[in-house]
Amino acid sequence: MNMKFIYKCLAYFLVLLTNCYVMAQTELIDPTIEKKVDALLEKMTLEEKIGQMNQYNGSWDVTGPMPEDDYNKERYTQLKNGQVGSMLNVTSVKSVKEAQKLAVDNSRLGIPLVFGYDVIHGYKTMFPIPLGESASWDLSAIESSARVSAIEAAAAGVNWTFAPMVDISRDARWGRVMEGAGEDPYLASLIAAARVKGFQGTDLSADNTIAACAKHFAAYGFAESGKDYNTADLSELTLQNTILPPFKACVDAGVATFMNAFNEIHHIPATASIHLQRNILKGKWDYKGFVVSDWGSIGEMMAHGYAKDLKHAGKLAAIAGSDMDMESRAYVYHLKELVENGDVKEAVIDDAVRRILRVKYLLGLFDDPYKYCDETREKETIYTKEHLAIARDVAKKSIVLLKNENNLLPLKKDQKGIAVIGPLGNDKDTPIGNWRAHGETNSAVSLLEGLQNVLGKDVPFAKGCKIGSDDNKRAFLYELAIEKEDKSGFEEAIELAKKSEIVVIALGEECWQSGEGRSQADIELAGLQQALLEAVYEVNQNMVLVLMNGRPLAIPWAAENVPAIVEAWHLGSEAGNAIADVLFGDYNPTGKLPVSFPRSVGQMPLYYNYKNTGRPTKSPDNMVFWSHYTDESNAPLFPFGFGLSYANFKYSDLNVSSEKVSLSDRIEVSVTVKNSGSVEGVETVQLYIRDLVGSITRPVKQLKAFKKVMLKPGESKKVKFTLTEKDLAFYNLNNEWAAEPGQFKVFVGGNSRDVLETEFEVIED
Ligand code: NOJ
Repeated sequence: MNMKFIYKCLAYFLVLLTNCYVMAQTELIDPTIEKKVDALLEKMTLEEKIGQMNQYNGSWDVTGPMPEDDYNKERYTQLKNGQVGSMLNVTSVKSVKEAQKLAVDNSRLGIPLVFGYDVIHGYKTMFPIPLGESASWDLSAIESSARVSAIEAAAAGVNWTFAPMVDISRDARWGRVMEGAGEDPYLASLIAAARVKGFQGTDLSADNTIAACAKHFAAYGFAESGKDYNTADLSELTLQNTILPPFKACVDAGVATFMNAFNEIHHIPATASIHLQRNILKGKWDYKGFVVSDWGSIGEMMAHGYAKDLKHAGKLAAIAGSDMDMESRAYVYHLKELVENGDVKEAVIDDAVRRILRVKYLLGLFDDPYKYCDETREKETIYTKEHLAIARDVAKKSIVLLKNENNLLPLKKDQKGIAVIGPLGNDKDTPIGNWRAHGETNSAVSLLEGLQNVLGKDVPFAKGCKIGSDDNKRAFLYELAIEKEDKSGFEEAIELAKKSEIVVIALGEECWQSGEGRSQADIELAGLQQALLEAVYEVNQNMVLVLMNGRPLAIPWAAENVPAIVEAWHLGSEAGNAIADVLFGDYNPTGKLPVSFPRSVGQMPLYYNYKNTGRPTKSPDNMVFWSHYTDESNAPLFPFGFGLSYANFKYSDLNVSSEKVSLSDRIEVSVTVKNSGSVEGVETVQLYIRDLVGSITRPVKQLKAFKKVMLKPGESKKVKFTLTEKDLAFYNLNNEWAAEPGQFKVFVGGNSRDVLETEFEVIED
């Protein structure tokens, strides 16, 4: 890399970061826009209004030859008649322009379409999957990844992303764990806001910002037994205290849209939930953006056994506040009749359309429907060197060092005899991850390439085995594809390991193993990977395991035996380079797990902020009768917040400003952190609290703050936190957030398990 390029990247990064700091929340209410929305609504017929509430997938070339079937012909006609308000999956300036022209030139009022797309972790420059990125605990980095994603998507004509997904999940069996920020509501809320700010910037009407979408409202990540689309059965207090905070953080950050969810909650499909959409979101939170249904979720209410036909489903969804129908066609077919019959009030329609038009105005689409359609910009802005440099930066910050016995890592650059083994060792596709938008197949820097780039020479490689059978490596067929028999590559891998000094073995999940519809009953290394790992270990124990995966994996054997383990998720375009940065110590790892890693699937759901129960520990009296498994520990394999560094951090002198404080007091907490290692490093210092007795039972620990601190070898720093009443508050039985007087514990450490602790008492003001 030449210096000029490095300076250019730094300058670019600085501009991005400066934007981050000056960014304010997007205001969804602008009086001038409100007047325009009212005036337009006045002119609209009922049919035109309902058209705005209808969203279609763009699966055909709108101006070119079109499938001849009636269904597609009808959509084409509806687009021209102003009966479609939005399309999804139409990307590239050319396609967006064509579709937009159809609507704008032909419909009576020329209302522009809004184009949505799943830009989840990059448009073409791919960033780490959201769960991986969340392991950075670095809000600026996370914001910059969303910013770059927005810049690229907007340059390709897209004006709306269906992200961030802010579903809290405690179950690694759920395939969509990869798309969220993990198990903790506090961390997930900060990350949710950072992503919204990154996508939307300060000005939604700028041509390089796009509308964000907080999804899936709500409790989709609490699918029973981790099975996608399954029922979520949970209490109102869990909903309020655990699931809703990241959604509220999105509202506070000015998110332009929400998406509801496939699951039922409180025995009602979320799509028809008045409680969620009307009472909480648009009521208590006074939200002014619009809610889009999830794909077909209005129609799916028939299968749920909640609607008797599509018309009934449309009625229930509209009344509950689902403003836009993604691909169910319930509104476009039935809403007019429902309004004319008095089943749905026209005011409900007006409210939905007002919200949709508001967002279109905010995006600037009425000023220029083609403002995101500039071919030159599209060519120059996407997949640039600068964007790849930012992707590498975010990727290296997302890596978590899980184990490093005898300081096996970092590797020396003159280290002889490095070999790469394993099915993911030279996989250029897996790091691109699921939900890859326009991320190209096989476009990532593989681990092998990353190491070779550093060493400047070939590194021997043996694949050992496949995970999925290659011919079947197709997104929608994954369940057919795990390879369980073909050990023909083992011998080559074993031979290579025998003659090598160090083995870097890359195992985990292929990109299509996690994501939507990819729930798994087993979360160990799939297929032949465990057998390969053990066979290679038998001949060479000088081993670094690099994991690439979308969900926490149960790897107890590896954790026990393999000396060094690096969690590298699906890291995006620059994966191999970022992993090499860490393996050779050019970057000292800083990542911390945003989820607990289990010992076995039977521990699911697993989370650090659990409740104590009445029988938390073994005692002579309760013998076997305490809350535990008889065949497995309660503890995770690696706890929430865990992650090592090549430096070594020691915690001491945890103090609170006063042992007795009143509710309105600020509580100052301080701790000393020392780097007792021999290299400079950054530690993420985490603060947790426990409210010992409450009007409802409280979790054993709750993350309330964290700070990153850089320490030179031998250096100590005092790290200070301030807690206020808000940090002690929880949603209670009176349906309000409030803190209660009483005894609190405070814990500080480098993860949720290894902490110092002290106490303070809160008294009434
Ligand atoms: C269904 C998914 O649940 C949702 O997250 C996504 O945005 C839509 N499909 C559109 O692709």
